[in-house]
Amino acid sequence: MAEPKTSELMEKIVSLCKRRGFIFQSSEIYGGLNGFWDYGPLGAELKRNIKDCWWRSMIQVRDDVVGLEASIIMHPKIWEASGHTSTFSDLMVDCLLTKKRFRADQVEPQSGIAFSYTGATDATAGKESKDPFSVLVPSAKHVEHARKIARQFYQQRGLENPALLGESSRELQNTAAYNPENGGLLTDPRPFNLMLKTYVGPVESEDNKSYLRPETAQAIFAQFQNVLVTSRQKVPFGIGQIGKAFRNEINPRNFTFRSREFEQMELEFFIRPDEAIEAIYATVAAPAGPGHPGEPQPNWGWQLWHQYWVEERIRFYEGIGLPRQSLVEYWQKPEELAHYARATVDILYKFPFSKQDEKGELMGEELEGIAARSDFDLSQHQRFSGKPMMVFDEELKAACLKLAPAKAAELSARYFEARRKYLVKAGVDAAKAEKQAREDAEALMKGSYVPHVIEPSAGVDRLALALICNAYNEDQAPDEKGKLESRVVMKFNPRIAPIKVAVFPLLKNKPELVSKAKEVRDLLRPHMRVFYDEAGAIGRRYRRQDEAGTPFGVTIDFDTLGEQGPEQKDTVTLRDRDSMKQERVKINELGPMLIEKIR
Ligand code: GAP
Repeated sequence: MAEPKTSELMEKIVSLCKRRGFIFQSSEIYGGLNGFWDYGPLGAELKRNIKDCWWRSMIQVRDDVVGLEASIIMHPKIWEASGHTSTFSDLMVDCLLTKKRFRADQVEPQSGIAFSYTGATDATAGKESKDPFSVLVPSAKHVEHARKIARQFYQQRGLENPALLGESSRELQNTAAYNPENGGLLTDPRPFNLMLKTYVGPVESEDNKSYLRPETAQAIFAQFQNVLVTSRQKVPFGIGQIGKAFRNEINPRNFTFRSREFEQMELEFFIRPDEAIEAIYATVAAPAGPGHPGEPQPNWGWQLWHQYWVEERIRFYEGIGLPRQSLVEYWQKPEELAHYARATVDILYKFPFSKQDEKGELMGEELEGIAARSDFDLSQHQRFSGKPMMVFDEELKAACLKLAPAKAAELSARYFEARRKYLVKAGVDAAKAEKQAREDAEALMKGSYVPHVIEPSAGVDRLALALICNAYNEDQAPDEKGKLESRVVMKFNPRIAPIKVAVFPLLKNKPELVSKAKEVRDLLRPHMRVFYDEAGAIGRRYRRQDEAGTPFGVTIDFDTLGEQGPEQKDTVTLRDRDSMKQERVKINELGPMLIEKIR
């Protein structure tokens, strides 16, 4: 079957999400709320499975990562320290005519003739406007089109019958200064802070202003010392968290991809600064090449830890069903990096709505960013809260005592310079920064430092959407009479499939079949999400589950009851969603067999 075009495919996916109860528009009965989504019964299961898989692989099976569940609203100082109050903004532009708001970087550049006006008058009403305005029209279009738009602009300024003044024109190439929808001039770009504000307590004053967190990460930094002490972890170790985040996105778009409320799964993995590694192990291990560097080693510096987490995360995505070729590992260019980041890799998924490169290949959109953030975050909270964020490292202290004086001086000087640079960039005056950096370098030689961090930060909703897009398939399946008909099948990996198994009695009017089927359902239910269905022809029931992405179907028939002989008694038909192959399985082997397949 031919592949549907990407926009058509996305429409089909969105429609299936609503029809089958994966995703609904939030507040739909009131017309919806842009950028907010609700997950229906299947979507809720899918999201839960995603989060469980993440938690299991990042926390449960590791000795060196612990979990956290922090509040959504935190002390506003947290957002000052993190830089969100001052820099967490997108540039926006408004259409001067319609007031529609765009993200500046999302306005498609256009070419044409710009007609400009210095103002307008309305002689009969004795009114005048001196506001300049201009309209971009494609070269083929008549000037009258520009005049019509310009008149609307001046009408909005109270001139009922505006006569346009000072018309001039010039040709423009690839300009993003005009509204692509009507050609009207846009405002100059200005920053728009993306944090959603609220007030804590009964008084709506500046003092009580707070924010819904725009990321879960900052709570991890703020609780770093509490977690360190109570979990008795030692650097290197990580703290993971899953939770809601909120961003007042200027243009939510691409279904749930850019939402205003979403969930993140973030790990902050704290490591020793490279100078500490060098003091203890003489050298920092160098990456041997691309790919997974293997089991973590004590002499790894930030580069190997970063590479390790990039590869671990890619393995995670592959493990829940996103094929390697659907993912892109994008290394941010030096000019794209945040000033404190040493390297950031974005893992992209090739969504149907992703832009295409010159060869027509989908370029992908971000699912997760893995950033090596130096010691920026903890250092910021140390400065803003006045509370120490340093750790004491016995091994480092012992190693420093044995260092040759020249090596100690070299490491100390390098660490001093890194700390000084950070402090100066953070706005600390030069003399103070120098003094503080000197103290930090002395502390390092005594075994204390602010840990550096590697941050794999993923979005649950984007991953859910990627998994839905990846699962969507149209193929052919035989109907009751063996005739091929087209089917929509969601080929979810069994680990994240919303429903793991559907149980069907062959006929609903045969009490023995129904009661046996319910027995099987109850046997499996404690271990996995089971759907019991006795309504309609068996083929229709399979088809409904194919669309829901249920990987296994179990049918209880007359053989199960032993009517065709004792050898088939207490066996069921197990149908595989993707191959549609059926096999006979003993009921007492069904549970362990399915558990094996869904873990
Ligand atoms: N602490 C780092 C951080 O928050 P980010 O790249 O801004 O980094 C991390 O966000 C992940 O959160 C993204 O890769 C994406 O999966 C998800 N995310 C960010 N903004 C989102 C939005 N508006 N809607 C849905 N998911 C979003």
